[in-house]
Parts: sequence; C-alpha cells; structure tokens
Amino acid sequence: MRVKGTLLLDNDERSLEKAAGIISRGGLVAFPTETVYGLGASAYDPQAIRSIYTAKGRPQDNPLIVHVGKHEQLGEVVKNAPREAYRLIEKFWPGPLSLVLPRADDIPGEVSAGLATVAVRMPDHRTAIDLINLSKVPIAAPSANRSGKPSPTSFRHVIEDLAGSIDAIIRSEDCIVGLESTVLDLSGERPVILRPGGISREDLEDVLGYSINVAGTKEAAGSPVSPGMKYRHYSPRAPLILITGSERRRRRLINYLGAYYRRKGLKVAFLNSYIDKDLTSTIDPKILAAKLYRVLREMDNRGVNLILAEETAEKGLGLAIMNRLRKAAARILRI
Ligand code: TXA
Ligand code: MG
Repeated sequence: MRVKGTLLLDNDERSLEKAAGIISRGGLVAFPTETVYGLGASAYDPQAIRSIYTAKGRPQDNPLIVHVGKHEQLGEVVKNAPREAYRLIEKFWPGPLSLVLPRADDIPGEVSAGLATVAVRMPDHRTAIDLINLSKVPIAAPSANRSGKPSPTSFRHVIEDLAGSIDAIIRSEDCIVGLESTVLDLSGERPVILRPGGISREDLEDVLGYSINVAGTKEAAGSPVSPGMKYRHYSPRAPLILITGSERRRRRLINYLGAYYRRKGLKVAFLNSYIDKDLTSTIDPKILAAKLYRVLREMDNRGVNLILAEETAEKGLGLAIMNRLRKAAARILRI
C-alpha cells in the first residue's frame, strides 16, 4: 500500500528485507525505535544523508544519530572510544542512550554536519535491529518528524509529516518510551549530557561513579552545547503555560486560570489531566513521557487555544520531560 507515493510496510521479514534494500540503494525509510520513529538512511551514503535534511526541512548544521545493530558495530562508526563508553554500552545498550565520540574516518562528514564527532546508539527495538542488520550498514536517523513538529511516536505521525517525501514507512506499535534518547558527550574532558532523555542522569552517574552536568544549565556554564539546542523547538500552535511551584498552589492556579479562560470562550486543555483523567497526585513520569508528544499533536489537531501544564519533579525521566515542556512553553509561571 502507498500513501502519496510512500510505501507502507509491515514489520514482517519480507517487508524488512524490502526496507533494507531501499536503504542499501540510497533511499529513506522511517522505522520504529523504543524512543520515537526514526528517518533512516545508510550512514555511508552522503547523498542519502542530504536527502534526510531535505525531507525533514532540517537545518544543515544539526547532526544526526547513527544507529547500530550490535555492540561490536560501534567501532565502524567511532574511533578512540574511552573506557567509559564501553562501561555505558555494556549497561545501557540496546537502549535510549546516544554517545558522542570521535567520528570514524569512513563515516562521511554529512552525518554529523561536518563535526569531528558523531552520536551513536543501539536501539532497543526488534524491528530497528533487524532493519540495521539486514541493511548491513549503520543507519543514520534523526526523528522522523518534519522539523518544528513533535517527534513521532506512532507511524501515523510519520505519515502526517512525511508521506510523499520519503520512500517507505514501517508500520509498528507506538513507541514505548515516547521521548528521544539521552545524548551524552564523551568527547571532552568530562562527560556532559547534551540532551536529557530516556536514560536518566542518575542511572548514568551510578555507572560512572561521579556526577554529570547537563549542558545549558548553570552548573555546566562553559561546557559544549549540542548543535540541536540552538534551534527553536517544537511549540504547540496554542500557547502552553507551564506552571511551577508547590503541588497545592500550582493546582489552585491551574484551576483558576482554566475557569477564567474558559469563561472568555477559549478552548483550554489541561495537559496532565489530559494524560491521566483520574488525576489524584502527580502522574508517573513514564506515562507522561510515553504520551506527551501524541497529546501535543492532538491538541494542535483539535484547535485547542490554550494549554495549561504542571511541572513535574526533575528526577529520572522527569528531567527530560521538563526539558521538552520548557522548550514548548510560551510562558513559565512560578507560584
Ligand atoms: O531517540 C532518539 O535519539 C531518536 C531515535 C530515532 O533514535 N533520534 C533523534 O534524533 O532524536 P534527532 O536528530 O532528532 O536528535 C539528535 C540530537 C540533536 O539534538 C543533535 O544536535 C544531537 O543529537 N547530536 C547528534 N550528533 C551530535 C554530535 N556529534 N555532537 C553533539 N550533538 C549531537
Ligand atoms: Mg528530532
């Protein structure tokens, strides 16, 4: 089946062989991972990599993540990996951890926008792994959304954004984690988290045995910044107001603002109760993460005028959730 010329594939063996063939011939295939859907091309094919940027409308200087199918493939993508890298992949691969390391000579500069480093991860998803192994090449893949939209957590989001612009989309279940991988830079003096994500800072610190800074925060002033961080990120069509403060006070403010703007005729959505209807206390961050992008897309599609969101504690996955909410927010209120 095709949508606007883009092939829709299932995730059975024959379809995956077809998808792998498309990758080997320089085409673009969207595939599921445990975090979000990726838009893949052979990491060895500069022309195919360039077409990823075009299909997404992605700024040319924002580097991609290379996906490998087994631990040993790390050596095809990076060189001079420090001991820490092996300790981390032993513990967290397959999984939502991307490591930034010196780029191997065979990986073209296009993959990492000309940087001397490259981000690499092994996804925790059968279909993704089969696709990489059948393609016999590492697969470079950003999230499979059009630039400026939330990352896709369902193949339907990929169809919405990219049908007609890419060769194929593999249909599979919704992504379990729902937020992108943690990007950890291991190329400098000390590891730095460039983007909080599916593996928590605490888990990384447990393995490394020391504390790790997060780029863009006060504690990390002067440390490198991920190229991706300087771009305007997704913001919903409706302004999102993020409300922080003690649970009791922020709930009171949210209820007050909600009622006030509804009386004025606005279509108001409460992000947290949208995700958990029987909201009694703070939502499990895992559930919030898994549904966040889908819910934001739905709010845009339903013509919501105002989104009220509550802060969540910045522990575990909460750090990644708050990072995305802050980027999406038009205003942050502290009460
Ligand atoms: O979970 C994920 O990471 C998903 C799935 C598909 O694997 N991919 C993803 O890719 O979110 P993307 O392109 O949307 O985000 C990649 C992030 C960007 O913030 C980029 O700036 C950063 O990783 N990055 C990639 N290579 C880098 C490098 N060499 N140095 C610094 N940052 C890098
Ligand atoms: Mg992205």
